[in-house]
Order: sequence, then C-alpha cells, then structure tokens
Amino acid sequence: MELLGIDIGGSGIKGAMVDSETGELRTDRERIPTPQPATPEAVADVVAQLVNHFDYRGPLGCAFPAIVQNGIVHTAANIDPSWLNTPGQALLAQWTSLPVALLNDADAAGLAEMKFGAGRDASGVTIMLTLGTGIGSALFLEGELLPNTEFGHLYMANGLISEAYASDRVRDEEGLKWKVWAARLDELLRHLDRLFSPDLYILGGGVSKKHKKFIPQLTTEVPVVPAQLRNEAGIVGAAMAALKLAQPS
Ligand code: BGC
Repeated sequence: MELLGIDIGGSGIKGAMVDSETGELRTDRERIPTPQPATPEAVADVVAQLVNHFDYRGPLGCAFPAIVQNGIVHTAANIDPSWLNTPGQALLAQWTSLPVALLNDADAAGLAEMKFGAGRDASGVTIMLTLGTGIGSALFLEGELLPNTEFGHLYMANGLISEAYASDRVRDEEGLKWKVWAARLDELLRHLDRLFSPDLYILGGGVSKKHKKFIPQLTTEVPVVPAQLRNEAGIVGAAMAALKLAQPS
C-alpha cells in the first residue's frame, strides 16, 4: 500500500509517498519551509498543501516534535507555544479532510528504523535517539514502542536537560570538537544504561551520517549503531502510523 507520510519539523515540513511493505519512498520528498510563527493553523495549512501536492486521498501520518497523547499535543519545546494542549490530530484531520495519525517525530523515526533499518533484527530493549535541534527518543521492547519517552529532557549532572547539552545544534553552536561532543553524548547514554539496561542504541538525525567521527569514541558497553534511514525515517514512520488507521490490528 502507498501512504503519505509527513514529518513536521522546526524549519521544514516534508512529505513523500511511502511503500508500506518495503519502507521505500515512492516519490521525491516535497519540502515546504515551516511557517513562522508555526501556529497550529499555519502548520495545518502547509500539511493540506502537501496533501494536495500528492493529490492524496488516504489515511495520513504526521510526525511532530512534541509529546502527542491521544491526538493532543502536550509539549512545545521546539515548536510554537500555541501548540500546547492543541488537539493536533483532529485539527489536521479537519484541514485535510483525511483520517490522520499524529505521533511524536522520534517515535516515528524509531518505528521506521525498527521495521526497515538498523533495528530490524533487534530483540530486547532498544533505544533510538534522534540528534538534531533537540534530542528525540524512542524506546522499544521486542519491537513494541513505549511512546513519548522524551529522553532529550532528562536532567544531566550539570543541571541542564540533555538536549541543551548534547544535541547536534549545541555541538554546532558551541563549536564543539567531536571528542568533546561525544563525551557529552556518552554521559547521556551512560545515564540511560543505568535506567534501562538497553541491548542496543540507534543514533539518528542528520549528524548520524558522520557517525565514524563520534560513535567509536563512546564508552558505553551497549552496542551503538547509526540509523540507516537517515532523514527519511520520520516520513516512513509517519506512513507506518497511517497504515494502522488503514489496517487496525
Ligand atoms: C521534543 C521531542 C522531539 C525532539 C526531536 C524535543 O525537544 O521535546 O518531542 O521528539 O525534540 O524533535
């Protein structure tokens, strides 16, 4: 089945048609800059434009950079504060006239990696982190997602939340050397080691392309692998959530 997946981010809103059997994109990605301010209505309008672009009439999956519980947006760390407590799923359904599944962006990326990417053969506990503007997280037990974990907001020993200390944006803005940034990331992973005793970490986000510069420097004893779907993971995972609307289990 071909489904439309849309990844709503702080700077761009991207969509593509996804083959739900293989996880491959069936079209080019279409990207529209995120409107500023990124209010719910402004974002919904862009989502509707993407739906029209693909002339799409099926269940729609949307990945979003916040906690999404029962279709309601509960946080707004890297998106306009007017999203707080917005019934985002119902709003997007109204603007597109389609059934919509709205889920956290890192959860979407994790679902895609577990099914089609670096987590395909994983068993036990897997943690996926997306390293970008913020840090997103997805926690899996035997491939089943425990949603909305938000490890990017865990407090580190220095009193900062982890995404204010170890995100890729912080690496860039503070001009951190790979070694210094890897040590910060390692602190987060070792914290997660103690909390969850994971069997595997998957690191995603644009910076995962450069994994050779930082993964070898990590000291956690848990295996760490780069994500495989890179910046397509959010779109693919969003489409997987849409598939659940089409084929509820
Ligand atoms: C948000 C998460 C999101 C992550 C990546 C964080 O600031 O709290 O919900 O998954 O950024 O976009």
